[in-house]
Amino acid sequence: MSTLQSEIARRRTFAIISHPDAGKTTLTEKLLWFGGAIQMAGAVRARKASRHATSDWMELEKQRGISVTSSVMQFPYKDCIVNLLDTPGHEDFSEDTYRTLTAVDAAVMVIDSVNGVEAQTIKLLNVCRLRATPILTFINKLDREGRSPIELLDEIEDVLDMQCAPMTWPIGMGKRFRGVYHLLDDKVTLFDPHGDKDDQDAGQIIAGLDNPELDRILGEQAEELRIEIELVRGASHTFDKQAFLAGKQCPVYFGSAVNNFGVRSLLDALATLSPPPQPRPAASREVQPAEPKFSGFVFKIQANMDPKHRDRIAFLRVCSGRFDRGMKMFQVSTGKTIAVNNAITFMAQDRSIMEEAFAGDIIGIPNHGTIRLGDAFTEGEALKFTGIPSFAPEHFRRARLNNPLKTKQLQKGLQQLAEEGATQMFRPITSNELVLGAVGTLQFDVVAHRLEHEYGVDAIFESFSCATARWLRGSEKAIAELIDKAGHNVAIDGAGEHVYLAPSLVNLRLTQERFPDVTFLETREIL
Ligand code: G4P
Repeated sequence: MSTLQSEIARRRTFAIISHPDAGKTTLTEKLLWFGGAIQMAGAVRARKASRHATSDWMELEKQRGISVTSSVMQFPYKDCIVNLLDTPGHEDFSEDTYRTLTAVDAAVMVIDSVNGVEAQTIKLLNVCRLRATPILTFINKLDREGRSPIELLDEIEDVLDMQCAPMTWPIGMGKRFRGVYHLLDDKVTLFDPHGDKDDQDAGQIIAGLDNPELDRILGEQAEELRIEIELVRGASHTFDKQAFLAGKQCPVYFGSAVNNFGVRSLLDALATLSPPPQPRPAASREVQPAEPKFSGFVFKIQANMDPKHRDRIAFLRVCSGRFDRGMKMFQVSTGKTIAVNNAITFMAQDRSIMEEAFAGDIIGIPNHGTIRLGDAFTEGEALKFTGIPSFAPEHFRRARLNNPLKTKQLQKGLQQLAEEGATQMFRPITSNELVLGAVGTLQFDVVAHRLEHEYGVDAIFESFSCATARWLRGSEKAIAELIDKAGHNVAIDGAGEHVYLAPSLVNLRLTQERFPDVTFLETREIL
């Protein structure tokens, strides 16, 4: 194997998806800790706490530098180089969260054992499904009185339509939680709430379900476990790597992130089961990771520390070949060639200048607004990567100016922020209004603040009655007919496409029935 091939083969690029409070921050921190990337527990948590202690955007602004570094965390684990991509949740939930999932090769889904499958997890999993991304499931908080494991797996299968293959099985829950049984290795790892705080998985291990040692330690729970495991083996799916890689089946691990229990098993699974960088579809052909020539696409743009300089970082996922510092890259959308000397890497401890990167890695390219979402970079080939979507926003606001003379600046500002992917912009065809759409409401604060500070525009965002948006596809005649009858709900988006702004979901359904020749899309490819 060449160096290029072996470097690529050891890359693991993934994100964690979960509903707020399921334990994503805790798990991230523990993964970094086990990966040797942070010395101290509490580092990620402190960051989250300070982010949430304030709703003041100025504070968030100050912390943007931090969030740039924490959006990708790279660390070595065993023979692998792991890239963990952050998917902001909570009120900073944005399209970036969704789009980041298009840049990974696998995802870990964290489920709270008390709450089961929750709304945001469903949304995020549906995004993973667009690319059949392999999913590993971590059922967290076993130290609490949660729902029965069988019920939880049933719920994942029913609600998420995903086969579950338990890899470990919990022994009791809450106060009776004693550890997990590894179904493939036939061994038990014991949980000790007062035990090794650093690595519970390296704690006491007992080989064999029939081992009398188990009865001595677990008492009556040993026999309960044996009966349950027999049941589980009979009733559940066994792990099928092909089904996992096709995104149809998820291996399931149980644990307690806050107690460092089950985290190492999960990390081992990421290293051994989850796939290396995968081929990427482009309009003309499929790009293979080990192709000698460099290529990549931009999945996220983040404004940098100093808003006055309109300094931005474009996050690029390397799709093939290798990146070397100073190399010349061809920007397909502009036809220009740029030399990149100051790309940044995302080692978990700090942010430093990148010397080299391989397919699967993420590099950050500083720029002044010249790089756009979805941009492809190559060594000369005019590749267009597909599958980088815009998602139907769920929150809408009408932008109104305090000073009407600033209309031009407002339009320019909104257009640029839309290109960055911060929000989407719509112009209803029957009025002069500017409507903003976002998947998370914090985005409106971000946009208002940035309009003021970067474009000198003082805008107010008023409520706008719209439940959801759908991109319209169909023959010219079919679209014209819809516009004729329901044009008051049609707008043009930043890319010049027709969009239906549905005042309610009922209205959307009725309109879809009324115009069967028009397709109403929930996502649109950025090209
Ligand atoms: P998130 O990023 O998905 O929103 O979740 P986060 O890690 O912040 O965890 C949410 C809460 O759940 C935190 O409690 C965290 O300590 C707790 N938690 C995480 N893993 C476990 C676990 O295995 N067992 C139990 N019992 N709790 C867990 P908090 O009270 O919100 O914060 P803190 O005061 O503990 O920092």
